[in-house]
Amino acid sequence: MYLKKIMAATFAATALAGQAQEKTFSIIPEPVEITVTGQGEYLIQRNTVIRMSEPTLAPSATYLADYMERYLGIPLQVELPKSGKSRKKLSSAVETILSKPSDQPCIILKNQKNGEIPGGYQLEITPVGGVRIEGNDEAGVFYGVQTLIQLLPTRAGVLPILPTLKIIDYPRFPYRGMHLDVVRHFFPVDFIKKYIDYLALHKLNYFHWHLTDDQAWRVEMKCRPELTEKGSIREGEIFGLYPGKYQPLPYGGYYTHEDVHEIVRYAAERHITVIPEIDIPGHCMAVLATYPQFSTTPNEPKKAALTWGIFNKFNNVLAPKPEVFDFLKDVFSELCDLFPGQYIHVGGDECAKRWWQESEETQQFMREHELKDEKALQSYFIHYVQEVVNAKGKTLIGWDEILEGGISEDCIVMNWRRPEFGKKAVRTNHRTIFTCSAWSYFNLKESRIQSEIGPRGPLSLEKVYEFQIVPDSLTTEQQELVWGAQGCLWTEYIPTTWKAEFAIFPRMSALAENVWSPLEKKDWINFTRKVEMQFERYELWGARYSEAFFRTQDIERKR
Ligand code: ACM
Repeated sequence: MYLKKIMAATFAATALAGQAQEKTFSIIPEPVEITVTGQGEYLIQRNTVIRMSEPTLAPSATYLADYMERYLGIPLQVELPKSGKSRKKLSSAVETILSKPSDQPCIILKNQKNGEIPGGYQLEITPVGGVRIEGNDEAGVFYGVQTLIQLLPTRAGVLPILPTLKIIDYPRFPYRGMHLDVVRHFFPVDFIKKYIDYLALHKLNYFHWHLTDDQAWRVEMKCRPELTEKGSIREGEIFGLYPGKYQPLPYGGYYTHEDVHEIVRYAAERHITVIPEIDIPGHCMAVLATYPQFSTTPNEPKKAALTWGIFNKFNNVLAPKPEVFDFLKDVFSELCDLFPGQYIHVGGDECAKRWWQESEETQQFMREHELKDEKALQSYFIHYVQEVVNAKGKTLIGWDEILEGGISEDCIVMNWRRPEFGKKAVRTNHRTIFTCSAWSYFNLKESRIQSEIGPRGPLSLEKVYEFQIVPDSLTTEQQELVWGAQGCLWTEYIPTTWKAEFAIFPRMSALAENVWSPLEKKDWINFTRKVEMQFERYELWGARYSEAFFRTQDIERKR
C-alpha cells in the first residue's frame, strides 16, 4: 500500500506531458550525485546539434542522435570536428567552438582525458548553455549520454524538456556483465546486437557469449570447419518442460567470422568487451558428436552425440589424448585471434569425472603425469589452455570449479555457485566475478506463479537488487579482488527472443544499479519508484518484460 502511494505521487508528477519533469528522476543505475540547480529548464529542439571535442566521440554522438530519431522522432544533427588539421590544432579549434556561447542550441561531448576513474563523467544542463557531458575518458562520455537518455521522455510526441542539473557519476565496479547462452537456443545476429544495446543502455560493459556446450557448437572455426558442419545442427528438439516432448525437426545455426567481427565492432562502439566462452573439458558433447574419438568411449557413438534441449550434467567429457590437446590448441588459438578483447572464458564447470574414473586409458594418463585425482586432471586441462591463451597475450576466465585442482593466480574466477566459492577465489588471490546463480540467473522465473520461462526459481526483482556483491569478512585487499558482477541467461527453456527479453527485464535493470551505483545510493524503495518509468522505456524500445514485480509487491500499474 505504501509503495502504491509513492508510485502514484511520483507518476502524477512525471507523466505531465511537455512539462519539466518532477525533481525526482528515474535514472537507472542511480548516479553518484545529482544536484538540481533550479535555474529553469532546457528544451531540446529540432535544430539542436551534437558537438564533440574529438572525432573518436562520434559513436557516442551518433548513438544519441539515433536514439532521439528512432524512439522520439527528433532528428538531431551531429557535427564532426573538421578534419585535415593537425590533432593539436584540431583540439584547440574545437575547444573554441565548445566554450563559445552559441546561438544554436547544442549538446556538447568532451573527453577530459583526466586519468580519473575510468567511465566517470559529469553531465550539466543549463538553460542557456544547454547540455554538456564531460567524460574522464571516452567510455565516460558514452555513459553520460546514457544518463541524458534517461532524462528524455519515454514516448514520442512529448517535448524533451530537460531539468537543469549537474550530475557527477562513476561506476562502483570495473566489471559489469551480462551473459547469453546461444547454444541451447540460437539467436540471430540482429538480436545479439539488440541485446548489446540493452547492456549499453544500462552502462554494462562486458558481454559474455556462451558459444559451445552439449547441445551445439555455434562459432565458425576455420581450423576445424566440421565443428559447425556437424556440431551446430541437432536432429530434433524437445519442447515443453522436462521431460518434454521430442520433435524430429532439425534445429541449428552458428556465427561466421564475419558475424563475430560485426558483433565485436558493434559492442566496441558501445564500450562493451565481448568475452567468448568455449566450455571444456565438460559440456563438450558437441565436440564429441563431431569427433567421437575424443571421448573416453570412442566405440560407443551413442555416448558421444549432441544432446537435445534438456540440460544433463552427467554428459560425456573430453579424454586426455594427444589429439584432444592438439584440438584445444587449434581452437583456442583461433578464438584468441578472432576476438580482440583481453579475456577468454574456458568454462570448466560441471565436468562429470565418472567418465575419467571409468576409463583405464585416462587412469593410465593420470599415473604417467602424476595427477593424483580427477580434479588434478581437470586442472591439467585448464593449465594447458591457459598456456595457449597466455601465449596470445590474453587472460583466462573460468567458472569456479577451475579452483578445484589449483590454478595460477592470474586466472579470473567466475563464481556461479554459492558465494563461498567466490570468497575462496579472492582468498586465494584471484580476481573474481560474482554471478551466483540464486541471485543472478535470469532464467529462473521471477515469481512463484510465473511459468513462461521454466520450472526453476523464483528469483524476484528485489532479490537481484539486494544481492551482496562483496561478501562479508573479506580484508580490504581481498575486497579489491572483487572485480564486479554479472547476470546470466541460460536458454534451455528460452527458444525465442521475446522470452529472452521477458526473462532479463526488469531484473537486468536491478543488476545494473547494484553493480554501478555506490552502496550508499542503493535504495530498494527508491528503485521501485523508478521502475515504472523503466517499464515505459522497455515499451519504447519494443522489448518484452515481466510484470511479476507488480504482483509480488501488490502494486497496480498505472497503464
Ligand atoms: C553453470 O551454471 N553451470 C555455470
